[in-house]
Amino acid sequence: MSTPFDLAATDELLSTTRAVRKRLDLERPVDVEVLLECIDLAQQAPTGGNRQGWRFVVVTDAEQRQLIADTYRRVSQSYFASRAATPTDDQTGRVRSSSDYLRDNLERVPAMVIPCQQGRPESLPLAAMASYFGSIIPATWSMMLALRARGLGSVYTTLHLVDDGEQVVAEALGIPDGWTQTALIPVAYTIGTDFKPAKRPPVTQIVGVDGW
Ligand SMILES: Cc1cc2nc3c(=O)[nH]c(=O)nc-3n(C[C@H](O)[C@H](O)[C@H](O)COP(=O)(O)O)c2cc1C
Repeated sequence: MSTPFDLAATDELLSTTRAVRKRLDLERPVDVEVLLECIDLAQQAPTGGNRQGWRFVVVTDAEQRQLIADTYRRVSQSYFASRAATPTDDQTGRVRSSSDYLRDNLERVPAMVIPCQQGRPESLPLAAMASYFGSIIPATWSMMLALRARGLGSVYTTLHLVDDGEQVVAEALGIPDGWTQTALIPVAYTIGTDFKPAKRPPVTQIVGVDGW
């Protein structure tokens, strides 16, 4: 196949960019410069109508990280309580243990990025809702891939948005009304750089060609 890319390296990046929690290096600071480089790359992601209505809030200040972590823990209590009551398989058990660890150590993660988007999605009809979130999530994932390529790990999270969590964090960070926080991405250098593809079903099981 003729391609300008190193396919082995590209495919490894795509197949091993995991939700990193226990292997975040909590002792090594993250320079804002490397985050700016990755967010600059993320700006190349597609947006509906080329709207580019995004703003990425980078948080490294210890007090702000503490407030975000305290909020995350407080508003996610009922989620974690109800999850604990449901049975689990091995893979899900590992994800649970890992997300418990993140919840308990979030303020120690040296950097966080909050991808924000102009507008509020609550009352949008389906097509507009799809366009709304579809105009920020590809950029967020591009940033996470760029981070991984530079030896940093991250994890896509949304739990701080439960109940009044978004509002509390908006007030602390000065995020104006009319803007929506779409996620919270904790970022750190990883402990080791060897990550493996996760177990997924054969692709034919999840694909329909020319129909469902
Ligand atoms: C929309 C979305 C929301 C998520 N929210 C959280 C979260 O609040 N907390 C958390 O620890 N992980 C969260 N995750 C991470 C998932 O648990 C993780 O991606 C999944 O277990 C698969 O793991 P992998 O990415 O390593 O394959 C979220 C992921 C997505 C895509």
